[in-house]
Amino acid sequence: MNFSAQLIAWYQHNKRDLPWRKTTDAYIIWLSEIILQQTRVEQGMPYFYRFAERYPTVTDFAAASEDEVLRLWQGLGYYSRGRNMLKTAKLVQEQYGGNFPTAYNDLIKLKGIGEYTAAAISSFSANEAKAVVDGNVYRVLARYFGIDEPINSPKGKKLFQKLADEVLDVSQPALHNQAMMEFGAMLCKPKKPACGICPVRTGCEAFKTNATSSLPVKLKK
Ligand code: ADE
Repeated sequence: MNFSAQLIAWYQHNKRDLPWRKTTDAYIIWLSEIILQQTRVEQGMPYFYRFAERYPTVTDFAAASEDEVLRLWQGLGYYSRGRNMLKTAKLVQEQYGGNFPTAYNDLIKLKGIGEYTAAAISSFSANEAKAVVDGNVYRVLARYFGIDEPINSPKGKKLFQKLADEVLDVSQPALHNQAMMEFGAMLCKPKKPACGICPVRTGCEAFKTNATSSLPVKLKK
């Protein structure tokens, strides 16, 4: 089994039951991904339910007032996220007739959607072969392949994106991306990674050289 297949096998036995993983609706996935930016899953979950219930479609969201959106957002912080969401919902309503785009190249043009979020929405909603690279993915790749290039240098960013693209299972991008992120969040954690029960430790450079605590490298800015 290759690296991706091993992580997917682990994921299928160990994944958390999260509501946004049960849908391919790009709008609902967008809601979850924006809410989860800079927010932990446990904290974001009630907000996700609140927004999905109040605005079941992007058309409902686009018709909301900014006051109401910000009231629902209260407590999550980074209020520009809430404001940008309303702007994006209105634009999707106008330009796409309320059909939330699923293609990476359309998504990347929308306000508040960067490379990570565009890859997440396009892969989860339409199985587009785009590798997500978030903090979890940086950590898993840096440790497994033993890469000490800083994750936040221009060279490092390119290197990790290339590596993420190389290990992506293009036959099942959604599953692959969820597995990479879940593995980083639950097992290959920043502090005290669970190497004792890790299914890929025999291939892991950081495990072999006792370097998990020093990887990934991040430059102070
Ligand atoms: N954090 C951001 N996106 C996530 C997802 N799809 N599943 C779990 N945690 C996440």
